[in-house]
Amino acid sequence: MAEQSQAQGNLGSLRVLLGVSGGIAAYKAAELVRRLRDAGAEVRVVLTENAARFVTPLTFQALSGQPVRTGLWDEAAEAAMGHIELARWARRIVIAPASADLIARLAHGFADDLLTTLCLASAAPLALAPAMNQQMWAHAATQANVATLRARGVDVLGPAAGSQACGEFGAGRLLEADTIIAELAALHGPKLLVGTSVLVSAGPTFEDIDPVRFIGNRSSGRMGFAVAQAAAEQGASVHLVAGPVHLPTPAGVVRIDVRSARDMREAVMLQIPQSNIYISSAAVGDFRPNDVATHKLKKNGSEFVLTLTENPDILAAVAALKKRPFVVGFAAETHNVEGYARAKLERKKLDLIAANRVGNGEGFDTCDNEILLLSRDGSERLARADKLALARQLVTRIAERYTAQASASKRAPARKARAGKERSAR
Ligand code: C5P
Repeated sequence: MAEQSQAQGNLGSLRVLLGVSGGIAAYKAAELVRRLRDAGAEVRVVLTENAARFVTPLTFQALSGQPVRTGLWDEAAEAAMGHIELARWARRIVIAPASADLIARLAHGFADDLLTTLCLASAAPLALAPAMNQQMWAHAATQANVATLRARGVDVLGPAAGSQACGEFGAGRLLEADTIIAELAALHGPKLLVGTSVLVSAGPTFEDIDPVRFIGNRSSGRMGFAVAQAAAEQGASVHLVAGPVHLPTPAGVVRIDVRSARDMREAVMLQIPQSNIYISSAAVGDFRPNDVATHKLKKNGSEFVLTLTENPDILAAVAALKKRPFVVGFAAETHNVEGYARAKLERKKLDLIAANRVGNGEGFDTCDNEILLLSRDGSERLARADKLALARQLVTRIAERYTAQASASKRAPARKARAGKERSAR
């Protein structure tokens, strides 16, 4: 794995119509054009009138190598490639950045400028990468418009959270160009995990103290559920062993609900012989009470001592199996993220580990995340993005590594057999 390598995405020669709406993030769309072309896409750009106040059509013309359109009423442009032809040409429409205003107009079916007209006139699937002030993103009107568009099958990519051009902090940043490409590649590219069985563990475990109390943790399960979804999107047959969480099961995924670490171990071990890849994103409780009281414990005015026993390490047990799948662990750390994660990778004998910072509002129980992906021979940072975007990138890396390893081990016995034949012929 290359140090800090760029996200790869292969879009074949996908015909992308890139719409740019008016917002300060419009300047980032210029980089997106380059990255889309690097990924093999043919790109034509349409700017809204407001976008053209932030960046010039000439910038996009130079980067896309194609004329750029800004309005419906340009006779010369209409004579060259009319807007209906442009709508038919597109195999994917991407709007990045998508402003609150544009999202509202799309949700209500407006066709009052070239970009909104193209969206209505085209049969191509539409993806939006929103970018706006965090209050505007959080506003009930914007959220209702986004929900309407999602229900119509529009792919909403991001937004990411972080510091904003307006000086505020929160969700509303445009996704990085690489992340947008990875998302599009997941939607259009070849499926990387067809014929592969993937087992994912997700969520917390609950360790009962008595019939009403338990020891748990803050894991929401969102990352693991997103990983399961991303693996299913890549054509894998996916089993998801889920701790106690209230999340919908991703389409096409077989879910097995468990409660304690020991339940999780049993469910995982049952499924392991049929799995090619094990991705352990669950926050497994390290300890459980020695004894579970059969009746609710009563306070008695003095201190209460709870004795704990260590839980089995499911991930290490899977990695220690003689016939083991490709094994991916997670490391949630509050500090020294890389150091601790690398130590875990070595100690638990993992193929990959996805490390992230938790605590202080990061990692657990949040909608976005960033990952440092470590292997024995390198590291790669996956930039902050919402958990599904990140999961799609992570699954792509896992698939690439797993495929390389599987084809290397297929070649190895053939080499051995050839060497054996040569020896006996001598
Ligand atoms: O050692 P630590 O708990 O930080 O390791 C985290 C990784 O190990 C995660 O992938 C988690 O799912 C897995 N794990 C496990 N069983 C445990 C503890 C952690 O599978 N008892």
